Amino acid sequence: MPEHPASLNSLKQSLVNPLLEQMTLPEKIGQMCQVNGAGGWVPEDLAEAVRNGQVGSVINEVDAETVASLQKIAVEESRLGIPLLIGRDVIHGFKTIFPIPLGQAASWNPELVEQAAGIAAIEAACAGINWTFSPMIDISRDPRWGRIAESFGEDPHLTSELGTAMVRGYQDNGIGACAKHFAGYGASQSGRDYFTTEIPENELRNVYLEPFRAVAKAGVASFMTGFNDLNGVPASGNEFLLQQVLREEWQYPGMVVSDWESISQLTTHGFTADDREAAFEALNAGVDMEMVSRTYADHLASLLEEGRLSIAKIDAMVANILLTKARLGLFDQTFTASVSEGGKQELALEQARQLAAQSCVLLKNNGQCLPLRPQQLKSLAVIGQLADDGYEQLGTWIFDGDERLSETPLQSIRAHLDGVAEVRYAKALETSRSQDQSGFDDAVSVVEQAQAAVLFLGEESILSGEAHCRADLDLPGCQAALVERLSRIGKPLILVVMAGRPLTLAPVLEQVDAVLYAWHPGSMAGPAISDLLFGLQSPSGKLPVTFPKVVGQIPIFYNHKHGGRPPSPETVVHIDEIPVRAKQTSLGMSAFHLDAGYQPQFPFGFGLSYTRFDYRHLSLSHTEITADQSLTIEVELENSGDVAAEEVSQLYVRDLVGSVTRPVKELKGFQRNRLLPGDVKTLQFTLTPEDLAFYDRKQQRLVEPGRFQIWVGGDSDAELTAEFELK
Ligand code: GLC
Repeated sequence: MPEHPASLNSLKQSLVNPLLEQMTLPEKIGQMCQVNGAGGWVPEDLAEAVRNGQVGSVINEVDAETVASLQKIAVEESRLGIPLLIGRDVIHGFKTIFPIPLGQAASWNPELVEQAAGIAAIEAACAGINWTFSPMIDISRDPRWGRIAESFGEDPHLTSELGTAMVRGYQDNGIGACAKHFAGYGASQSGRDYFTTEIPENELRNVYLEPFRAVAKAGVASFMTGFNDLNGVPASGNEFLLQQVLREEWQYPGMVVSDWESISQLTTHGFTADDREAAFEALNAGVDMEMVSRTYADHLASLLEEGRLSIAKIDAMVANILLTKARLGLFDQTFTASVSEGGKQELALEQARQLAAQSCVLLKNNGQCLPLRPQQLKSLAVIGQLADDGYEQLGTWIFDGDERLSETPLQSIRAHLDGVAEVRYAKALETSRSQDQSGFDDAVSVVEQAQAAVLFLGEESILSGEAHCRADLDLPGCQAALVERLSRIGKPLILVVMAGRPLTLAPVLEQVDAVLYAWHPGSMAGPAISDLLFGLQSPSGKLPVTFPKVVGQIPIFYNHKHGGRPPSPETVVHIDEIPVRAKQTSLGMSAFHLDAGYQPQFPFGFGLSYTRFDYRHLSLSHTEITADQSLTIEVELENSGDVAAEEVSQLYVRDLVGSVTRPVKELKGFQRNRLLPGDVKTLQFTLTPEDLAFYDRKQQRLVEPGRFQIWVGGDSDAELTAEFELK
């Protein structure tokens, strides 16, 4: 998909501009309108609108024949023959479902994420889809927010790397990507969706905008504006975002689409008085295409007639849309019904299995109770509804997912132990939300007869995703009571969590021997989890988001600022240890909670393995560098255990003094390596001054001389450290 400025200019000269000159005003406005498909047929009014050039895009039509019919009308029966953008939410797979994006992020594997997006693109293109509303790259620091499931987590660098990988995967395989939701949506107050976001510009630029800047540089075909009210100006009418940042500073050449009816919602926000004003504000800000609501279709012509808008502005926005269609090659395509996926189903499922396995994070493994050793098992208990539900394991945003492709953990465990050990299953609960404990006795009986038990608990898929936010992050329903009851039997308990967000696991953590966090792993949840439970692979996932101990700690994230009174073990007292009549200043005056301290349950980047990795001999190529030099960081990594495994090694940097306060550490590099037992490998990271750039108090992006500290290790609590100076 061409993205070089020269090739874009030639498309503009050769195709876009000549077409624009022929277009009437109604045809121009038509390109700016996206309508909802009818789902498998073409109603006459839709056919007529397409024929009259009043539709630029159709969303949610996935029947290949219907899409081919719509394109045929657009190309052969309309006056100018402009093809349609066919948009769909292909978020983590089309028919083959990969882990939810938060799970994919836990793999820290851009190559696998890119391959998964490529497979999704090929499957979606077979239905005639040429545009996906993905990647969602909202920085998400609040697990109460249901849409954290769709994100790559809390870190700008990891989100940038995986977001650009997903863009490449989609766009190198024939469909346009869409960076969303521009911008700041993940900071929605109290973790409620569609709500207010107040983000100081410096924080907006240094954190929330960074992934969008990265995918814009990577040539993402489109941006989608958010639902959120950003600092008093809703994102879908926000001139600062869409003009100053996106067009003037970033020189972005692609197109901008609103979110679903987010233009008409400008009036709901109280930002505009009516649809007419909403159309004016959105167009003035620079939203090229309106998703589903009709303010552009109804009001742009009269706003133009009144002189409140210029035809030049409309032409520029229509040109963005036409250029996007040209970049996608739509003008060169013949539109026939679906093409075969070319028998790639097996490959797709194998990729889904690999990515699901690498996305699972081992959070606890007391006494190395994992991996399970079949020869030591006569009977294994498998407990929980989520062990055997091919739909729930897929997660949120799987409109077109084919549940028939799912292999559940129970199925895979049974297959693996066939002829070796007995597998006894008890569902125990009808749903993850159930308060009905009547199934507990059955579960107890099954566990009593087994040598070990694997509990599949967590959240059904409906409990995360858009509009599905939670104020309490404990295991829903009476799942914790089930764990407590089973823990009294005294058998090894392995907890596998399927969820769309970090959960507060403290209530059950001490009652189980191991915890494997699987997110919602997708079609191949079964083989992936079974491979890990029985040690065919070692877990290698790392957390892309911080896990709080209690919901009251939120927001809690690793790349926080230092503050003037930072906490430390010496400066905190627990609420239960406060002496009677303690003096006011006697408890340590630093940034902590009396009843929770200041540490998370599990830190960003954390994940255990079946082996042990040791880091040593950190060395820097220079103790100081100038603005035109880069720094090479070397560290020795050893697999000190007795199984082969992969480790995601992470590089963190702290700018010790800045003209604005800087985070206590920031992820600046990571790499995944497979080591056999006893292997020692020297890892190399490279830091350039550009990696150290940030926006200062004047919102200028610059690199400041000064001292920097670096850490390298297996999570954000890495201790191996060194310093250097940028002159
Ligand atoms: C939804 C979501 C957005 C999605 C769009 C189209 O409301 O906010 O992420 O792409 O509408 O379904």
